[in-house]
Amino acid sequence: MNAPDLPSMRHLQPEFEALKKRFPAGFESSLTLPCLRRIQEVRGFVAEQDIDWLVEYIGVPRVQIEEVLTFYTQFRRQPIGRWHLQTCRNVSCSMRGAEGLIDHLCRRLGVKVGETTDDGRFTLSVVECLGSCGTAPVVMVNDAYHENMDAAKLDALLQELK
Ligand code: FES
Repeated sequence: MNAPDLPSMRHLQPEFEALKKRFPAGFESSLTLPCLRRIQEVRGFVAEQDIDWLVEYIGVPRVQIEEVLTFYTQFRRQPIGRWHLQTCRNVSCSMRGAEGLIDHLCRRLGVKVGETTDDGRFTLSVVECLGSCGTAPVVMVNDAYHENMDAAKLDALLQELK
């Protein structure tokens, strides 16, 4: 459950009003995705209170916002570590050792997939295809791709991430 004293995201309303003008009347529900993206960009995740506000502001049913949040794996519902390691495990990456890399990261970080290290530095996630299959295996760290990875490269990368 999110902390009850999180800051409001209502200061984003002027931005959202500008976005709203791009859509024809009656298509306000199209604001759901860009509003959620912007909230996550600012807060780092989408909190329950953000959903409450969007239900009121956009005027869509809560379930519609929940559907977007659960369909797109990019959305987070809880805070994450400073460095978000997203390891691809789809076919190309698996054939080139992704499972071994995931196991390696779990051991090195002392976490399971989906967890954050106690010091708040790293969150480990597993994702399906980062769209860079030709350079598999791929690990995304925040917004940066790290390609043709192996355990030694991962160890060196972890050292750089303070
Ligand atoms: S399978 Fe890993 S990037 Fe496509």
